[in-house]
Amino acid sequence: MRLVFLGGPGSGKGTQAKKLVEKFGLAHISTGDLLRKAIKEETKLGLTAKKYVDSGELVPDDVILGMIKEELTRERRGFIFDGFPRTLAQANGLEKILGEMSLDIDYVVNLQVADDLIIERLGARRLCKGCGFEYNLKTRPPQAGGKCDQCGGELFRRSDDNDEVIKNRLSVYREKTKPIEEFYRVRGKLVEIDGSLDFDEVFEAITKSVGVG
Ligand code: AP5
Ligand code: MG
Repeated sequence: MRLVFLGGPGSGKGTQAKKLVEKFGLAHISTGDLLRKAIKEETKLGLTAKKYVDSGELVPDDVILGMIKEELTRERRGFIFDGFPRTLAQANGLEKILGEMSLDIDYVVNLQVADDLIIERLGARRLCKGCGFEYNLKTRPPQAGGKCDQCGGELFRRSDDNDEVIKNRLSVYREKTKPIEEFYRVRGKLVEIDGSLDFDEVFEAITKSVGVG
């Protein structure tokens, strides 16, 4: 199974991709996670990416496509792309890369959530500094006060989860990423999912529409 998870910031791409990956043994390729790891490790890629990620702008297409090519030399079994492609140039680039490998995307899952709910969700998201476990103060709160239930680590907010940057991420999404819905619609691959439902309902809707539920 080869899937793309499309959808605005905070639409649930990461949450649902992790569940599907766990259940079906797929590779989870999140360009956002790869960029945040590179920023933390202060690699050359991380130093280039930091200003884009912190401001909610998109990292240049050639940098992202280079990352994906490298990921695909390592991983050829089923996978989920989470947060990639994000521009028409990236969608065309991916089609070319996969074509050269005689592979194709099966479905593009488009998670739809209204802006006000996105702002609410991202304002409440917290991550553990120690193990990376994700919490949400409203929908998935830690039991142990402000600490991580898994490892006792400190919780923090992502550097791009503040109101101003969230608003920019939403507008960048509308301008640069929305147009690729049509790219996949005309190829018969786009599946629309209501991402505002609860965790399990969204998961069920996704598995049904990609033929594994
Ligand atoms: P990226 O990391 O991809 O961020 P994003 O697209 O803004 O999305 P998020 O990760 O914030 O949200 P999500 O959809 O994964 O939702 P989640 O499951 O966490 O990208 C970050 C940056 O990197 C970009 O701005 C850009 O700079 C750069 N970048 C990345 N990819 C790039 C690319 N291809 N090209 C160029 N630049 C790129 O859920 C969010 C919250 O909601 C959580 O707290 C969760 O618990 C909660 N939640 C989720 N689902 C539900 C539910 N059903 N009910 C209640 N709460 C829920
Ligand atoms: Mg994510």
